[in-house]
Amino acid sequence: MTDLMLQPLFELRGVSRYYGGGTREVRAVDAIDLRIDPGEFLVVAGPSGSGKTTLLQLLGALDRPTEGEILFERRDLARLPDAELTQLRLETIGFVFQQFNLIPTLTARQNVEVALAPQRLSRSEREDRVSELLEAVGLGPRGEHLPSELSGGEQQRVSIARALANRPRILLADEPTGNLDSATGEEIVALLRSISDQRGEAVVLITHDASIAARAGRVVRMQDGRLLEPVTPADLTEATPV
Ligand SMILES: Nc1ncnc2c1ncn2[C@@H]1O[C@H](COP(=O)(O)OP(=O)(O)O)[C@@H](O)[C@H]1O
Ligand SMILES: [Mg+2]
Repeated sequence: MTDLMLQPLFELRGVSRYYGGGTREVRAVDAIDLRIDPGEFLVVAGPSGSGKTTLLQLLGALDRPTEGEILFERRDLARLPDAELTQLRLETIGFVFQQFNLIPTLTARQNVEVALAPQRLSRSEREDRVSELLEAVGLGPRGEHLPSELSGGEQQRVSIARALANRPRILLADEPTGNLDSATGEEIVALLRSISDQRGEAVVLITHDASIAARAGRVVRMQDGRLLEPVTPADLTEATPV
């Protein structure tokens, strides 16, 4: 198959990340093989301490594996120099965090605008892009509000708009619903899913919440740094009490 769209976005082969050494060694991520396709919506579920955040940091080029290959569009991240990793991160990856990480003194618009700064845009282009991004996350009329004037769900929408600003190929979301009530959390998951469906970004969403995982198309489950055999969302709800 030569069609670029059929190439995996990510391909992980035998990826491990160990912390410490000797008797204190922690195998945070342990010999993981995983393929992620362009535009895919993947949920990584698993209990606290199972290695989800470590895996996401490896995918996001924020960390390097101790062993194994992480191919992103067929380039091995483990071998790229730091400067190229930084460039790749800026141009192709969007991050969403549990804590929103918005700048409290800036309005919603300005928080998104900051993420557009690396791109050379005219003022009007920039304003149009910010408006379009806020629309995409359903926050059009809230642009002039400070984070403190927004609900948790609205703040997370701003942070998703910010993550989309560089037109990434993949959004990496680490427990994005962790600070939200369950109804708002479900709205955020639905939003990420519709973004992925409509705009084509792949999404990797981490959660320890089985009811969130149960709403995904594809779920992989981590335990002690390892990826368990594929499970269906139904298995998950039965196996994992929330
Ligand atoms: N910087 C670090 N130094 C040492 N151990 C770490 C570090 N980061 C994570 N760990 C350990 O690695 C394991 C996986 O952590 P993490 O990836 O944060 O799991 P999760 O996100 O699933 O809760 C845990 O046992 C954790 O204590
Ligand atoms: Mg974590």
